[in-house]
Amino acid sequence: MYSSVYLHFDNKIVGVGNACNGVACVIAIRAISDAAGSSTVLSTGQWPIPFPVILLSTPPASAVTPLLPITCGAPVLYFSTMASSAFIPASSFTPSRARVGRAAVSLPAAPRAASAAASAAAATTTTPRMATGVSRNANLAKLQAGYLFPEIGRRRTAYLASHPDASIISLGIGDTTQPIPPHITAGLTAGAAALGTPEGYSGYGAEQGTPALREKIASVLYGGSVKAEEVFVSDGAKCDIARLQSVFGPTATAAVQDPSYPVYVDTAVMTGQTGEVDAGRGQFDRLEYMPCTAENGFFPDLSRVARTDLIFFCSPNNPTGAAATREQLTELVAFAKKNGSIIVFDAAYAPFIRSAEVPKSIFDIPGAREVAIEVNSMSKYAGFTGVRLGWVVVPNELQFADGTPVRNDFNRVMSTCFNGASNIAQAGGLACLDAEGQAEIGGLIDYYLGNAAILRDTMAGLGFEVYGGVDAPYIYVKTGGSSWETFSAILEQAQVVTIPGAGFGPGGEGYLRLSAFAPRAAVVEASARLTKMYASKKVEA
Ligand SMILES: Cc1ncc(COP(=O)(O)O)c(C=O)c1O
Repeated sequence: MYSSVYLHFDNKIVGVGNACNGVACVIAIRAISDAAGSSTVLSTGQWPIPFPVILLSTPPASAVTPLLPITCGAPVLYFSTMASSAFIPASSFTPSRARVGRAAVSLPAAPRAASAAASAAAATTTTPRMATGVSRNANLAKLQAGYLFPEIGRRRTAYLASHPDASIISLGIGDTTQPIPPHITAGLTAGAAALGTPEGYSGYGAEQGTPALREKIASVLYGGSVKAEEVFVSDGAKCDIARLQSVFGPTATAAVQDPSYPVYVDTAVMTGQTGEVDAGRGQFDRLEYMPCTAENGFFPDLSRVARTDLIFFCSPNNPTGAAATREQLTELVAFAKKNGSIIVFDAAYAPFIRSAEVPKSIFDIPGAREVAIEVNSMSKYAGFTGVRLGWVVVPNELQFADGTPVRNDFNRVMSTCFNGASNIAQAGGLACLDAEGQAEIGGLIDYYLGNAAILRDTMAGLGFEVYGGVDAPYIYVKTGGSSWETFSAILEQAQVVTIPGAGFGPGGEGYLRLSAFAPRAAVVEASARLTKMYASKKVEA
C-alpha cells in the first residue's frame, strides 16, 4: 500500500512525500519560516531516504503527532502516515526554487524520541506482505498524483489535527451545500415511496434511462434540438467521462484545457492515451495541453493547438469560471470539423449562465451535432451531488472514421458497464424539469451567484485580478507565486480552504480557485477573514 508520509518537526509538517512497503521518499522539505507557520519549499524533487520507515496500516488518530523516531544522522526526524492511495506530485511544490541539499536543510534540535509503546505498536503492524504475480496496470502507475480533491481534504485534516480549535471554512471543493428544494424533494420522495407499493415497484430499468426522463431532458433543456434517443441518462458526469474514454480507447489522442477539471487528464492517462508525466513541465507526454490564462481570455489559441482525436472542453469552466462566447464556441466547432476531431463538451455548470449571449449547450452552435458530445448533470443544477443523476447527449450524426455512429458504441458501453440510473434519482430528475422544479433551480443558482458576487468583490477590493463568478460558481483569482503556497498561507492564516490553481494543471499556477457553493454566512465570514489577512499584509509591507 502506498501512503502519504508527513515529515514532522516540532509538531509541524516540514516535509511531505510518499512511502511504499516501508520505504519513504520525501519529495519536498519545507522550513518553517515564520511564527504564523507559513513555509517555504527548500528542496523539491524525489529525495529518497535510505532507511526504512515503519508505516502504520491505519491512519493515526492525530496525523501530526510524532509517531516514530527515525534517526537520520542529526537531526532526528519523525514520520507519520495517513492511509491513502495518493501521491503528492512534485509539481505541487515550486520547481523553480533553488535545490538545497539535505545537509543545507537546517532544522532545530531534535524532538524527544517517541514512546516505547508507540514504537512497539508500530512494530506489530509490520508483518511482511507477499506480492501476487499480477503486474500493475502501467497506466495507473503513470498517475503520480492522487486525485486533487482528496489531497485538499488530507491537508485540511492535517491542519485540523495540529490546530484542533480552528474553525475552518471551505471555499474548496465544488460541492453544493443548500438543501434540495421542496418540489424536487417531493419528486425524490414519491419515487422512493412508489417502490414500496406493488403498482409502483420497479427493478432494473433501461440502461439509457426512462423514456419519460430522456424525453423531458430533450424538450425542456434542449428545446427539442436533440432527440430523446440521443440522451443517455446516468449516475453523473464524472462517471460518464470515464465511460466515454472506454468508447475511444487507448489509441485516441486528446486535448485538454490547461487548467482543467482533473478527470479529463486522469481518465486519459488511465485509458492509456498518454505517455509518462514529464516532471519538469508537469504534463503528460502525448496529451495536448491548451493553455487558458487571463492573457488569452481563458480561451485557447487554437492556431497553436495540434490536431487530436478528442478535445475536452468545459464551459462554464472549472476552475477558471470562464464561459465561452458564441464566437469562441463557433471557432471551436470549426476547428474540430477541420481536424475531424470530436469535442467532449462538459456543460455541468450551464445553469449558471445568465448572460443572454453565452450558449448553454454546444448544440446551440450550428454544425456541432457532427463533431460534439455533451456531458451534463443535475449535480450543480439541483444539489444532486449525492443523489447522482447526469446525462450524455450523443447526436445521431456523430460518426467514427469508418462511418459507425458513435452513439452505437456508447450505447454498447452503457449497456455493459452501467445498469441504469437509480429510479429514485430519475423521479427527482423529472421533478427538476417541471416548471416548479426549474423555478427552484433558478433560486438555488441565484443564491450561489450571490455568494460569487461577494467573493469577487472581496478579492477585487483587495487588489487582485479576479475572473469568473459571473456565469459560473467559481472565482478565479490571480495571486501570483506558487498557488500551493498561497493555499497553505490562507489555510494557516485565515483558516479558509481554497483550491490552488496548479492542482488543475500547470496552467493554473499563480491562480487560486474559490468556490461559491458554501453557505452565505460562511462566505461572508471567509471574506472578512481574507480581508483581514491581506489587509495586515499591506500594513506589514
Ligand atoms: C466540470 C465538471 N464536470 C463534471 C463534474 C462532476 O459531475 P457529477 O457530480 O455529475 O459527476 C464536476 C464536478 O465538480 C465538474 O466540475
